[in-house]
Amino acid sequence: MLIDIVSVFPEYFSVLDLSLLGKAQSKGLVEVRAHNLRDWTHDVHHSVDDTPVGGGAGMVMKPAVWAECLDELLGLEPQDMPQVDPTAELWDEPVQDSAAENLDDAANPDDTVDSASTAGITDVADTVLIFPNPSAPLFTQRDATQLSHARHLVFGCGRYEGYDARVPRYYKARGVDVREYSIGDYVLNGGEVAVSVMLEAITRLLPGFMGNPESIVEESYTGSNALLEHLQYTRPTTWRGITVPAVLTSGDHGKVDRYRRDQALARTADIRPDLIEKLDCAALSKADRKTLIALGWEVSGRNPRKL
Ligand code: ADE
Repeated sequence: MLIDIVSVFPEYFSVLDLSLLGKAQSKGLVEVRAHNLRDWTHDVHHSVDDTPVGGGAGMVMKPAVWAECLDELLGLEPQDMPQVDPTAELWDEPVQDSAAENLDDAANPDDTVDSASTAGITDVADTVLIFPNPSAPLFTQRDATQLSHARHLVFGCGRYEGYDARVPRYYKARGVDVREYSIGDYVLNGGEVAVSVMLEAITRLLPGFMGNPESIVEESYTGSNALLEHLQYTRPTTWRGITVPAVLTSGDHGKVDRYRRDQALARTADIRPDLIEKLDCAALSKADRKTLIALGWEVSGRNPRKL
């Protein structure tokens, strides 16, 4: 996977040379290139921003600078697109294949999507342009999984009051798979931290990235039905007078599995009831249903409902 990141603080991304992502880079699994947006400016001050049209506080990043940079990284020739609606929501309509130029349609044409639960999960273009933005849909594990199937990711980090809204709309109209994501309901100073978060979530899913791929499957938000994980303990079984739950040392694997599953259901119902509401009742085991009923949920419809 090739990852281009554009930022006015490219040094920020030296952290990506550390840890597992650093190792993945040395192994050749991923190549990360951090670029300075100011390298595409032509004025003496290397300015990337201007005042907002219509007035207001702060500065907005100029479209022309972004476009010179992104044209180069995406291999596109500059071209006017007067038909683009500057107010259209990016996620309203999918990218039209016929509009795609220079970009392959799909990274994995041989991928066979064989069940409803995985439908769309590899539905991603060869190249994806991603803008972190606090006013965008939330980035989820599903997005991370989908993006891990792309070959080339280009991230554009906004600063100040953000980038000119025509930029992502323009590239979508040019046939690029463009996404905007928020990583949470809070405002950061710029997109750099958000890109690091997204990149870590995406790259750890690449084949060969993790030492033990099973640990990916077992974690929160990833399994067949997204639940928060059960609590984990290691030895000693008694530490500072606190003993781990006896069932975990019973040696009865069936009981341990049930205990952990019940704990995952209970913790999720308590902390993230929205995730319980998304479960498919038909996919729940009899024991899962019994647990949810005991927790005060109705499980007879399509999705659980809190009584
Ligand atoms: N830029 C500033 N805040 C952000 C957020 N919460 N998510 C993504 N990008 C951001």
